[in-house]
Amino acid sequence: MITKNMDLTLEIIDLGINGEGIAKHEGAVVFVPFALVGEVVNVHIIYAKSKFYVGKITEIIKPSPHRTTPLCPHFKKCGGCHLQHLSYTAALNFKTTLVKNTLTKIGKLNVENLVEPCVASTPYGYRNKFSFPVGFSKVPFVGMYKENSHEIVKIENCHIQQPWAKPIIDVFNKFMLENNISVYNEQTKTGLVKHLVCRLEQNQLLVCVVTNGNTLPNHQALVEALKPHFNTFGLMLNINTLNNNVILTNQYKHLYGIKTIKMFENGLNYEISLNSFMQVNTQIASQIYTEVQNAVKNEVVVNAFSGAGYLSGLICKTAKHVYGIEIVESSHQNAETLKQENNLTNLTNILGDVSEKLKTIKDYSFIVLDPPRKGCSKQVIETILNVKPKNILYISCGPATLARDLNLLSTHYTLNFVKPFDMFPQTHHVETLVSLTLKD
Ligand SMILES: C[S@@+](CC[C@H](N)C(=O)[O-])C[C@H]1O[C@@H](n2cnc3c(N)ncnc32)[C@H](O)[C@@H]1O
Repeated sequence: MITKNMDLTLEIIDLGINGEGIAKHEGAVVFVPFALVGEVVNVHIIYAKSKFYVGKITEIIKPSPHRTTPLCPHFKKCGGCHLQHLSYTAALNFKTTLVKNTLTKIGKLNVENLVEPCVASTPYGYRNKFSFPVGFSKVPFVGMYKENSHEIVKIENCHIQQPWAKPIIDVFNKFMLENNISVYNEQTKTGLVKHLVCRLEQNQLLVCVVTNGNTLPNHQALVEALKPHFNTFGLMLNINTLNNNVILTNQYKHLYGIKTIKMFENGLNYEISLNSFMQVNTQIASQIYTEVQNAVKNEVVVNAFSGAGYLSGLICKTAKHVYGIEIVESSHQNAETLKQENNLTNLTNILGDVSEKLKTIKDYSFIVLDPPRKGCSKQVIETILNVKPKNILYISCGPATLARDLNLLSTHYTLNFVKPFDMFPQTHHVETLVSLTLKD
């Protein structure tokens, strides 16, 4: 029997869905964070309840040949990354296997020969957006949450962010200190600054300070401090007086500079607001979009969960007609601007819930699904099974919900391929593109 504070020597036999090591002791499964397959480790049991055991490594007796030195000094303390101790090649293999196992176990699908190797990204420095909580310990600081916690760890830099993140972190820390800016405290519900959210694309930066109030004292000093680093930027407040996990509300106050990012890419003009959805890894997103664009030639396409409309715009170039459905109003507005600025007469943007709006479209031959992590609702799957479009491309960031939805679709659809993409290197997350065709 395993009990708390026990010391054990374990051999790691697998990696779990969060990238943690898995070992067995007298038939019981023990989770060992930051241990790798094949390693022999000494662990101290830090959690033992309801047949759920967690061991903390005290010594690595036999290291894995795939073990590498993490780039980031905050790794393990900060909850953002899970795989920096694993070589990048092995991390890609882990994600390929993760997708294969999830579709097999949860989806009950035979995908043995359908899952392609996970497509590699730049392993670090890929993120075009960050959302960092702000903490206080003697001085205010920009940080990251510890894994599964609201405790904020101070970070000097974040290596999965693009290089522009570091100067902003430094400038903002200095600004808060010099201007006596207070930091929000969840317990007392007092203090001003909660989060710093920034996005940069095509040399245009949006800086948003999330505040429990509607002013940021001496914000002009922040503008001046950013000017030597960035030519084109905007500063805004997001006013959030809620005491829950919501980071951004709908209430913005523009303080300086640009309000949106104006993009020009693949012959399309479009704009992105701070709260519009945009994939965080531009390099990988464009590879997925190219696959979609090539697949939809001459089809009538529904682009469900269409975000700010860039993918709709791209597929308009090859498709006969495109219907984009998006629930967030500002993203829908972005998509409408894209339609107008590019004179896309074959694009219809629909504002609303896919579960409802999809029922109103009848004659489409192709549907692209790109839902959030929770996947598609039952109504969406039922509607697709009624209409029976010839082809489906499903883009997913949640393998478990993807497996659930594919299981339902597989009654009428054949899987052609499953392609994982490393949209989120150093984390356990993976993006997957799946192609399905209606059975005869
Ligand atoms: C993973 S993002 C994909 C966005 C877009 N395809 C892209 O690549 O930029 C999911 C999008 O679905 C939207 N969304 C979430 N639930 C929705 C629903 N029930 N109906 C319509 N859109 C929804 C979100 O606002 C978000 O823009």
